[in-house]
Amino acid sequence: MGQSVRLLRPAPRRRQQSSQPGDKVLAYTDVYGGTYRVLKQVFDAYGLVSVFTDNVSPKAFESLIDDQTKIVWLESPTNPLLRCLDITAIADITHKVGALLAVDNTFATPALQLPIDLGADYVVHSTSKYIGGHSDVTGGAVVAKNDALFERILFLQNVFGGVPGPLDCILFSVASRR
Ligand SMILES: Cc1ncc(COP(=O)(O)O)c(C=O)c1O
Repeated sequence: MGQSVRLLRPAPRRRQQSSQPGDKVLAYTDVYGGTYRVLKQVFDAYGLVSVFTDNVSPKAFESLIDDQTKIVWLESPTNPLLRCLDITAIADITHKVGALLAVDNTFATPALQLPIDLGADYVVHSTSKYIGGHSDVTGGAVVAKNDALFERILFLQNVFGGVPGPLDCILFSVASRR
């Protein structure tokens, strides 16, 4: 209920801080194809630098992270290879340089893993999959660690119009109660 009330609040009018040209995203190489494409074929053109490691070891992340890194992006388990990463260790490495850790938790679902409890700042889900559960609706969810991080998403959601329709909301609501 708390969450739905917040979603109905008017979006902040002030521009929320987002990435600048030259900022770096560090990601594990095995990510959902759409994530890879948006980083390499869309954001790349706006100067966002994407760096990928194919090594699950937190030390590999540590060797690639620097002050330009603003976001570390993980899936755990990954799609399609189902590799598991050490979210807690990578969160520590991420926060040492002041970056944010985002975890795509689609495959684990909140029933099996709560990345915010493990140190993540943002968690994303494709709700089209296990959360929707019936292949009758497509959608996504972003969970933020705190209100300040949530405001950034609310601003961007308002700017881009990425909102579910009423029927989608009912289908998710019914599915999540089963
Ligand atoms: C891990 C992961 N994240 C995100 C997505 C995107 O989900 P959607 O199809 O709901 O946009 C997918 C889709 O396969 C996925 O596997």
